[in-house]
Amino acid sequence: MIIRPSWLHFRESSRVWIEDRLRLKPLIDLLAKKLVPRHKYSFWYLFGGLALFFFIVQIVTGILLLLYYSPTPNTANESVRVIVNQVSFGWLVRSLHSWSANLMIATVILHLFSTYFMKAYRKPRELMWVSGVFLLFLVLGFGFTGYLLPWDTTAYFATQIGTEIPRSIPVLGEFIVRLLRGGEFIDEESLKRLFALHVVILPLITLAVVLFHLILNQVHGTSIPIGIRSLREPIPFFPNYLFRDAIAWIAALILLFGLCLIFPVQIGPKADPFASAPVGIKPEWYFLTLYQTLRIVPAAILGVNSETIVNVCVGIAGAFLLMTPMIDRKARMEQYSSGFTWIGVVAIFYVIIAISLAYLT
Ligand code: HEM
Repeated sequence: MIIRPSWLHFRESSRVWIEDRLRLKPLIDLLAKKLVPRHKYSFWYLFGGLALFFFIVQIVTGILLLLYYSPTPNTANESVRVIVNQVSFGWLVRSLHSWSANLMIATVILHLFSTYFMKAYRKPRELMWVSGVFLLFLVLGFGFTGYLLPWDTTAYFATQIGTEIPRSIPVLGEFIVRLLRGGEFIDEESLKRLFALHVVILPLITLAVVLFHLILNQVHGTSIPIGIRSLREPIPFFPNYLFRDAIAWIAALILLFGLCLIFPVQIGPKADPFASAPVGIKPEWYFLTLYQTLRIVPAAILGVNSETIVNVCVGIAGAFLLMTPMIDRKARMEQYSSGFTWIGVVAIFYVIIAISLAYLT
């Protein structure tokens, strides 16, 4: 007779107890059925999972911040000071929220470029790509709407400038500015609106789109880049690949805590709407490409002002991004589309040069 150690017996009976109640087996079988290909670019598959990780950190830390944050011009800045100086670990939660936001946006951009270069948008994953582009807009929306919430001088004037940019969009510009601000200037109404967008509207929409994105990923499995020959045995998503994801998440957590401990996020003086805007005010790094483009385009070309031109160009770039799977005919036929690869390379160079110039000049 085999005598089993008591802890093994306990583990088995707990497993049966949980299985009897939650009936997880079909879900686990489904996850195990999905195979993840292994080749020289498989490292890049980790970035989707990392974006998901940072999004979860945002939700958890955001809920904790909500316990103390107060969204009115009189109380917002003070409530953030209370979080940082008086609430236990408040400074850490705030730094985690802010650093994780930056890392989430960086990860989403890396994930976008990696899926772009691997042509993972080709049939049947077109809607994964389209939902991904919406996720990019949504995470940038989080960055934009969250910026004003501490109601400090930089946040106030940067949002005043940022919400002015859409004004020159043909037909819709005026409407968008008033919609964002809730009036002509940044004031109490604007703070209420951006707060509602940041903590309710954007999270609900993002959750739904992330779910759609992940379900499609499960349905179609992971793509193999065109022309990859040296394939090793694929591995099941559950538990093998999930284990790799978990290692990446732990590394991300260590990086996140390291950044918070070395560079805790600061808060500036309470905004004074009647003061003049500080000189040399710049947006967050993820809006610097747009900022620098607005700086280098001449004030008017053929009588059309620079902001209108830049807004139209951004619209065209956004539409190109959304439509990539439909317009890349070669990838649709499983042929390598080097033209699209070059467009991606030029885009990366442009972004790097624009951000560097914005920082240096
Ligand atoms: C909050 C933002 C996002 C989250 C949480 C997310 C999550 C994920 C996850 C977990 C995967 C599976 C693992 C992988 O292949 O990387 C995936 C795959 C994919 N994602 Fe995203 N993603 C996001 C944004 C984006 C963006 C911005 C794009 C592109 C515009 C995109 C396009 C894709 C595509 C095409 C795949 C399929 C990759 C393949 O099968 O090879 N995603 N995403």
